[in-house]
Amino acid sequence: MDRIKVVGGNQLNGIIPISGAKNAALPLMIASLLTDDTLTLENVPHLADVEQLVRILGNHGVDIAVNGRRERQGEGYARTIHFTARNIVDTVAPYELVSKMRASFWVIGPLLARMGEARVSLPGGCAIGTRPVDLFLEGLSALGAEIDIDGGYVNARAPKGLKGGTYRFPKVSVGATHVLMMAATLANGTFEIENAAREPEVADLAKCLNAMGAKISGAGTGHIVIEGVTSLSGARHRVLPDRIETGTYAMAVAMTGGDVFLENTSADLLDAALDAVRAAGADITPTNAGIRVRRNGAGIEPVDISTDPFPGFPTDLQAQFMGLMTHSKGRAHITETIFENRFMHVQELARLGAHISLSGQTATVEGVARLKGAQVMATDLRASVSLVIAGLAAEGETVVNRVYHLDRGFERLEEKLSNCGAEIERISG
Ligand code: UD1
Repeated sequence: MDRIKVVGGNQLNGIIPISGAKNAALPLMIASLLTDDTLTLENVPHLADVEQLVRILGNHGVDIAVNGRRERQGEGYARTIHFTARNIVDTVAPYELVSKMRASFWVIGPLLARMGEARVSLPGGCAIGTRPVDLFLEGLSALGAEIDIDGGYVNARAPKGLKGGTYRFPKVSVGATHVLMMAATLANGTFEIENAAREPEVADLAKCLNAMGAKISGAGTGHIVIEGVTSLSGARHRVLPDRIETGTYAMAVAMTGGDVFLENTSADLLDAALDAVRAAGADITPTNAGIRVRRNGAGIEPVDISTDPFPGFPTDLQAQFMGLMTHSKGRAHITETIFENRFMHVQELARLGAHISLSGQTATVEGVARLKGAQVMATDLRASVSLVIAGLAAEGETVVNRVYHLDRGFERLEEKLSNCGAEIERISG
């Protein structure tokens, strides 16, 4: 199993190119199931989760070519991928595939809308709480689907097609908003989603679906209206920049000090997180081409944050911000409101000398002047990168084990950081 070794103490200086967003690429890829035409996606990040979804879509019969080559024929970093779901050969998404990544459950929406049936295994994914699927099932029922669960599988049927209606989310769900929006594109009538997720990835998916011929308005707000159409066509769409990767590197620079330009990204995607990084003492200058992040001299200020659905502070940046706060000049409170068990990084950060106590959904971080390198374990995707951030400031060597978690969501992390002066390398095997 690969590990990542970081020797802390270097400032970061230079340019970091930001990749396409994993959390937009996944639903966009799944949207290819809605049409028998080719959907071409540009700026698709080369990540383990993308590869896993390629396997799942392949299982349903989607023909996938990367930059004109068949997937996995060539090495290198995939950028433009063509998806053609001319014939859907299987409407079953089996446990062996779905259990590896929660987002693969989302195929249920397009399969049901286009084929009138889907049998999808209940999902797995990051171990950050129970993560049920009740909202998906309620929402699909509101679209007219008949649903039952047996043997760990959800069976969904709509032999006469899905129909218009309304669903109001009792709690915001990004994934269930994606699924209802995709499914409703082919419904008979108009479907309205209330209290929808407002994340930029939802708006990006709607933009692509509209380019495919869907009639969606309001995506990016809490009220989305989808007028059903009889079929969708192909399209070409560029995946928006990864706001979580952007925020992660902004926090890394705030941690080490230095001057880095985050290229091909936009501050509008993560205002709340950038405000927190600014409050911690970094200078943030958004430009048309990206975001400049600097911190010189003075130390890191303690900042309290609480995660929230967009436009609030993203839960996917909570671990990284805690990593930054371990080295602040005072006490910071970090509250997690989205997932119930998203503090597994706490005990690993403690191995580096962090002082953190937990009470319910709030972590109290007493900043320390010195972190010290150690062996640590990546527990999930975002937690693992918080250990890298802390390692960048720790004295001596930090080795992060189980970096396959990192590879699920961060493209060329060690290369991007070492190009800016960090002492970081992957140890294979
Ligand atoms: C997506 C993101 C993930 C991010 C999360 C919250 C992708 C691929 N993943 O995950 O990185 O951390 O949004 O911003 O885009 N819930 C229910 N019932 C349901 C569905 C969700 O109770 O049927 C709960 C979840 O357990 C969680 C909360 O709702 O507590 C939010 O989850 P959700 O927004 O659905 O997260 P994902 O879409 O899985």
